[in-house]
Amino acid sequence: MSKIKVGVLGAGTMGAGIAQVAAQSGHRVVLVDVNENALTKAKASLQKIIERLIEKGKWTEDFGNEVFGRIRFSTQMNDFEGSELIIEAIVENIEIKHAVFKQLESIVDENCILASNTSSLSIAAIGSVLNNPSRVIGIHFFNPAPLMPLVEIIPAVQTSEVVTENARAIIDAWNKVTVLAKDTPGFIVNRVARPFYGEALRIYEEGVADFATIDWAMTALGGFRMGPFTLMDYIGNDINYTVTETVFKAFYYDPRYKPSFTQKRHAEAGYLGRKSGRGYFDYNENAVTPEPVKDEVLGKEMLNRILVMLINEAADALFLNVATKEDIDLAMTKGVNYPKGLLKWADEIGIKNVLEQLETLFEEYGEDRYRPSPMLKRMVREGKNFF
Ligand SMILES: NC(=O)c1ccc[n+]([C@@H]2O[C@H](COP(=O)([O-])OP(=O)(O)OC[C@H]3O[C@@H](n4cnc5c(N)ncnc54)[C@H](O)[C@@H]3O)[C@@H](O)[C@H]2O)c1
Repeated sequence: MSKIKVGVLGAGTMGAGIAQVAAQSGHRVVLVDVNENALTKAKASLQKIIERLIEKGKWTEDFGNEVFGRIRFSTQMNDFEGSELIIEAIVENIEIKHAVFKQLESIVDENCILASNTSSLSIAAIGSVLNNPSRVIGIHFFNPAPLMPLVEIIPAVQTSEVVTENARAIIDAWNKVTVLAKDTPGFIVNRVARPFYGEALRIYEEGVADFATIDWAMTALGGFRMGPFTLMDYIGNDINYTVTETVFKAFYYDPRYKPSFTQKRHAEAGYLGRKSGRGYFDYNENAVTPEPVKDEVLGKEMLNRILVMLINEAADALFLNVATKEDIDLAMTKGVNYPKGLLKWADEIGIKNVLEQLETLFEEYGEDRYRPSPMLKRMVREGKNFF
């Protein structure tokens, strides 16, 4: 893959990380932000990251200097001139994104790919203001971008096949695992992962168990790296709540994605998680870590309930051609570190078993939230496995 000039717009959490990834893959990078402070911060944090990599012996000093030297920090979008790929990672606001995409089109050549790192906006909507929307695409990194291997590639209805192929090839060459996702709310990961949070919150609200016990079931019995409440505290309850609410609205209020009052109240109270010192758990210095109730029978019940809801979501994403079965499983293992792909997991525990558990929940609650995906019914009827 030839080394090209890459532009990154927005030097915040994501933009700074994406610039690093592109630079360490050998590209010249221009990182632009309207805010001088954001650039200064991005520069300092990159310097620190590089120093640490050198200290640990992962990078040589020469390589570190080369990578740093490849990034130009600027407040001027005109410096993007000559770029072959621009990745936008500014605030999640469609009006502001429209304004910058229009501006980008007037700066770069006709063949430059214009990508957005948006988590929740439609790529079709972002591209709609361009004279040539066939070059717009979603390139969705996960936080932190240099460490998380997954990148979702999201062509819009207007995107040309060549742009999709080229964008994917460039990101593949950055040592990332790319998956192709349809331009639908939440793409793959932010859609399929909803029940990990939502069903855990629901179990808590029903009084089945406390936060620590639910987290224990998911980690100790399920093999997840973090329990849902620890993870929500890590992400931030404000951010995680907003993602859920956005997905819920974007799916025309499908009850499967209904947000939780428990999380809303935590966010409203300022119990945001680690960043505010308190979320579902207390992160202050002298805080006592709550002990889970290590009841394996109860733990397995909770794990199964969350797991079948996750599998249902993965199966439905496959049913609606959001992505291939391989990409859906890759997305969850490489984007959010699930211990296994959900569809492979379904094969292992038996699709019939998954369907029966969902049908029991659906019957018990009478809520559309628990309706089994037609994909699962079809698989059981035909006696098939996903893999
Ligand atoms: N944070 C995450 O975990 C995450 C993960 C995946 C995708 N995303 C998406 O990435 C994008 C950026 O998110 P973030 O968390 O890095 O945000 P952030 O708030 O950390 O950074 C945004 C940066 O954009 C700059 N900016 C705002 N308007 C600008 C403009 N008109 N021109 C140039 N710079 C401008 C701001 O000064 C700021 O430095 C969003 O679309 C978000 O949905 C975020």
